[in-house]
Amino acid sequence: MKKFKNKIALVTGAATGIGRATAFALAKQGANVIVTDTNEKEGLATVNRIKKEGGKAKFLVLDVSKKEEVDKVINDIFTTEGNLDLAVNNAGIGGVPNALHEVEFEDWESMININLTGVFLCLQAEIKCMLKQGGGRIVNISSLAGLNGMPGGSSYSAAKHGVIGLTKSVAVEYGKLNIRTNAVCPGFIQTPILKGIPQSMLDHSTKRVPMKRIGQPEEVAKAIVWLLSEDSTYVNGHSLLIDGGFMA
Ligand SMILES: NC(=O)c1ccc[n+]([C@@H]2O[C@H](COP(=O)([O-])OP(=O)(O)OC[C@H]3O[C@@H](n4cnc5c(N)ncnc54)[C@H](O)[C@@H]3O)[C@@H](O)[C@H]2O)c1
Repeated sequence: MKKFKNKIALVTGAATGIGRATAFALAKQGANVIVTDTNEKEGLATVNRIKKEGGKAKFLVLDVSKKEEVDKVINDIFTTEGNLDLAVNNAGIGGVPNALHEVEFEDWESMININLTGVFLCLQAEIKCMLKQGGGRIVNISSLAGLNGMPGGSSYSAAKHGVIGLTKSVAVEYGKLNIRTNAVCPGFIQTPILKGIPQSMLDHSTKRVPMKRIGQPEEVAKAIVWLLSEDSTYVNGHSLLIDGGFMA
């Protein structure tokens, strides 16, 4: 039986990578997926593939770092669809590794605005909808860098630690109101975000993964599906590593 029949699912940053794989996985389980991103071309490609495979989806432009846009788009989804059952706050940027003393302030700001404030803004808007309908399920995308420092990745790591803080706070604030919130912490996953990371650094990290390979976006999507589903009813405020054993 499909896990998300008749459920409305929002995925941010679903044009490529983990967000796209998650949109596919949710649609396969019967969800009506609202694919959002700043990249309209690839966002529409995600939707077209879902529809081609018999699923339900629509694309909306959404820049998660813009408060007014986030409030409007998420409120419109709720009004038009009548519900917002599932939300995956995935949109994010990587950036080129740089020592902290050399990080440009503008780069710090855009990292925090998209990777942390973006999650905060989406959570606020999603929770307002979920409170009206009496519950919901949320997964935020953090990272290994949300649990560890990362050489050359101070801004990214700070933002991703913040995502775990938000996840835990939301879990304890809204657990009693039937809103279950968790995070995933992927290791290195084969997506376009890795473009900025030098190959030598990736090779070095892959050697340190006990499974000796990089992860695939579908492997993260499967964990997100589990966290959103009725198979994880007592899991709340958790940050799930998906890293091939790297942290072990
Ligand atoms: N790939 C990895 O190794 C890895 C590891 C840990 C965590 N993550 C996290 O996973 C999430 C997805 O990344 P990915 O690896 O699939 O990379 P990706 O680049 O394929 O996907 C990121 C998506 O976010 C979108 N996006 C960027 N800025 C946006 C904004 N302001 N508003 C809305 N959308 C925006 C991009 O257009 C893109 O479609 C990110 O939060 C990333 O930090 C990735």
